[in-house]
Amino acid sequence: MFAQKNNLFVIIPATLLCLALFFCCKKQKIEDQNEYSQSLKIVVGVSMPSTIMQRWQKDGASIKSQLETSGYAVDLQYAGENDVSLQINQIKTMISDKVNVLVITAIDGNSLTDVLKEAKNNNIPVIAYDRLIMSTDALSYYATFDNNKIGQLHGQFIADKLGLEVLKGPFYLEAITGPSNDNNTKFLFGGALSVLQPYIDRGTLVVNSKQLTISDCGIDKWLTGTARARMERLIQNNNYRPGGSKLDAVLCSNDTLALGAIEALKAAGWSPSSGFPVITGQDCDRETIRNLIEGYQGMSVFKDTRMLAAKTARMVDALIKGVTPEINDTITFYNGVSVVPAYLCEPLLITAENYREILIGSNYYKESDF
Ligand code: BGC
Repeated sequence: MFAQKNNLFVIIPATLLCLALFFCCKKQKIEDQNEYSQSLKIVVGVSMPSTIMQRWQKDGASIKSQLETSGYAVDLQYAGENDVSLQINQIKTMISDKVNVLVITAIDGNSLTDVLKEAKNNNIPVIAYDRLIMSTDALSYYATFDNNKIGQLHGQFIADKLGLEVLKGPFYLEAITGPSNDNNTKFLFGGALSVLQPYIDRGTLVVNSKQLTISDCGIDKWLTGTARARMERLIQNNNYRPGGSKLDAVLCSNDTLALGAIEALKAAGWSPSSGFPVITGQDCDRETIRNLIEGYQGMSVFKDTRMLAAKTARMVDALIKGVTPEINDTITFYNGVSVVPAYLCEPLLITAENYREILIGSNYYKESDF
């Protein structure tokens, strides 16, 4: 009995020691395995322009999760608040870290020529995400939305709301658009003007400020505060107030600009009950949906970031596997060096009438988000 007890004193600690050693080794083995598979992983460097804009937060999250689902590791970096030199440095670091593919939304489409030369020298293919990158031969593909169509949706919405086809007017319009160093601006603004210019030529639509070029109407970095300041100047110079000069529409090329215009118009006394000017936008930012519901903004455009991310993830996959991804444009996007093959996703017009069906119906938002 005593001998049996004595044996137990030896057996139990020995068993515990063995178990401890077993689990310890197993843990080490799992860690080694993870490190090993991690070291085999293909890494995609994703460079996004800004943390302050909802659009890029959603895009960053979508592209990261879709690439990870496809088995890739993702190095996702945001360049602060649209900081061009930070973006260049982040891309440089990704190149020296030897990422396998780069996906980039440029802050300034003209500023990446040198850093992309380095990417090319290191055989790292580059995909331009949403914004075309200019003056480089390092681009493999471009994934975006049809920005010309978005501009046309803006112009057509204003034309329909004001009845430009049937009424003589005159109606009064001002415009706020993106910066000239974002290649999308010329498609957005050009698309809108392709619809509105005939009415301007006919005198049905009047632009009191006479400002209708990108250099007059473009807002650096698409900032809400700068758009608000432009709208305030327009209000002051032209006395756009209820009871003052008429203002029927403000063509805004996206939601951050629309937000600035709305803030300035509200402060000048405009309200939906006194006939708020027709305001356009794009991106369907959360705050914009509230403005649609409350009657401050007439429309926005839904660019489903999940769809753009999926198309981009497929381009990454194709580059890794050496096959050709689906593209639907091989002629439009000349970046000053070559024509970049592109995939253009379809944008959708959103108003207070259909946002529920499209945005909540597709699980992009929940009702409680607004
Ligand atoms: C994008 C828009 C976005 C804007 C500001 C443009 O290049 O196409 O969707 O609103 O940048 O971030």
